[in-house]
Amino acid sequence: MIFKLLLVFFVYCGGFYKNGIMSQELTGEYVEFLEQFRPVIQENIVSAFNNEMARNHRRKDFIKTVHNLDAILLSLDNTKIEISNMKLPWLPDFKVINLSVNLCKLCLDIDFKLGDLTVHGNFETNNMALQKVLPVSSNGDISITFHDISVTGRVGMLIQGDSFLPENYDVEYAWGETELAVSYFVDKETKVQNKITSPTGEQIIAEAIWYQLKEILTKVLKDQLKAVVVEYSVQESLADEDEKLRASAKSNSTKANSLFDSLLCAAKDYLVAKDIRQIETPPFEVLYRGKLSSTETGIFNSGPGYIRDLSTLSRLSDLSLFEDERQLFVYGTLGLREFKHGYEQFETKFEDNELSGSVKAQVYVTEIFVKLSFDKNQGSCQKTKVEKIEARLLSDIEIDTSGLGSLSWLIPKAQSWVMGHLRSTSMGVLLKSIEEAFNYAIEEELKKTQKNDPEGETNRMFWRSIFSK
Ligand SMILES: *[C@@H]1O[C@H](CO)[C@@H](O)[C@H](O)[C@H]1NC(C)=O
Ligand SMILES: *[C@@H]1O[C@H](CO)[C@@H](O)[C@H](O)[C@H]1NC(C)=O
Repeated sequence: MIFKLLLVFFVYCGGFYKNGIMSQELTGEYVEFLEQFRPVIQENIVSAFNNEMARNHRRKDFIKTVHNLDAILLSLDNTKIEISNMKLPWLPDFKVINLSVNLCKLCLDIDFKLGDLTVHGNFETNNMALQKVLPVSSNGDISITFHDISVTGRVGMLIQGDSFLPENYDVEYAWGETELAVSYFVDKETKVQNKITSPTGEQIIAEAIWYQLKEILTKVLKDQLKAVVVEYSVQESLADEDEKLRASAKSNSTKANSLFDSLLCAAKDYLVAKDIRQIETPPFEVLYRGKLSSTETGIFNSGPGYIRDLSTLSRLSDLSLFEDERQLFVYGTLGLREFKHGYEQFETKFEDNELSGSVKAQVYVTEIFVKLSFDKNQGSCQKTKVEKIEARLLSDIEIDTSGLGSLSWLIPKAQSWVMGHLRSTSMGVLLKSIEEAFNYAIEEELKKTQKNDPEGETNRMFWRSIFSK
């Protein structure tokens, strides 16, 4: 079976089209020609984007303004923390600080502010060591505010039909500090409120929530920007002189795709050969209560989890290419055509029930952003590296839980734990495996360029030829 698969991959991984991926540069004259359209297009896009935000405000009763997040589970020494029922109320609003359209390189440079965003939810803490001695726990309301969020970076555009399509988001978020507020009752009448403020990177609850927050923000950003940008006709915007830009865009994305695909292909060979089409993901453990008011606690132990099938990794659309004086970047999104995640055998104990079962999830839409860099000074792939790899979207999820018969009220909770844990922890393990496979592919390519024979020379020539002069 494995042998057969390997064979298929080897055939498919025929290597680079060693001569055929030159990019088509634009002449100085044409670049000048394009530049004259830049101010108008830029102005139009900014004002249309601002209008879109104003439209959101007018239509706030009809658009989605509350986003649900999955539960977060954290362990601090012996203390388990669960944050559940999380909601982000947010009327999408990006303030344009700068948006610059680069037609020659077919990208947008963006700098948007999002202001402060607050996620509300419930917390529960339990001390594992104390449980048998003094079974106390604490719960209440929690809100986490991220101050001064901003998003900056580059959005690679594709030309599709007669539209510019903003597709590949090489963006970074930043925020100032986080404020975490809790309120809980110490007895029937006395409510305690407390607050802490932490600098970026020092609030582990905020960091854990951020993965999900970022997923929501990026999805909305993509939708809003796309709605605006696709409205512009390529042909009209460029006074019918769009042919050269189209040709250059096409040859650049062919080049980006084939550089990426051949590394991806070698990376998949590695995953199959090393037998890591399925990877193990970390377990989690939760102390839970039947009802908020009840004192009866249960324990849920997930056991080891899995993600498969890594051999179904594939590129989801055309990639973008960006070249400056020192480096060439290729970036875009990957997904697993078949993404299965779950826990084969969890165990749970509640009152007199001791149950075990399995959770199986299928994720139909995955988006993983990958950016590779190729260093110009080397004339080989020596400094090629995975510059960035991150999870962007997990959606259209089908999830099945077995074994919880008499505790059926636990099913939705367990599913939220599984998805929350996948987003904040297990995805990290998947990304690491993918990165490792890419590094292997790069290493293999490097070995080829170091051979002292005609094949080595062809390879060296190839790696020099991918850069423009
Ligand atoms: C806007 O972005 C462009 C491209 O990154 C940059 O050249 C320009 O200086 C920026 N303008 C402002 C006002 O920050
Ligand atoms: C294609 O790539 C070349 C070389 O990096 C660059 O000069 C040109 O502007 C790119 N064209 C587009 C449409 O991005």
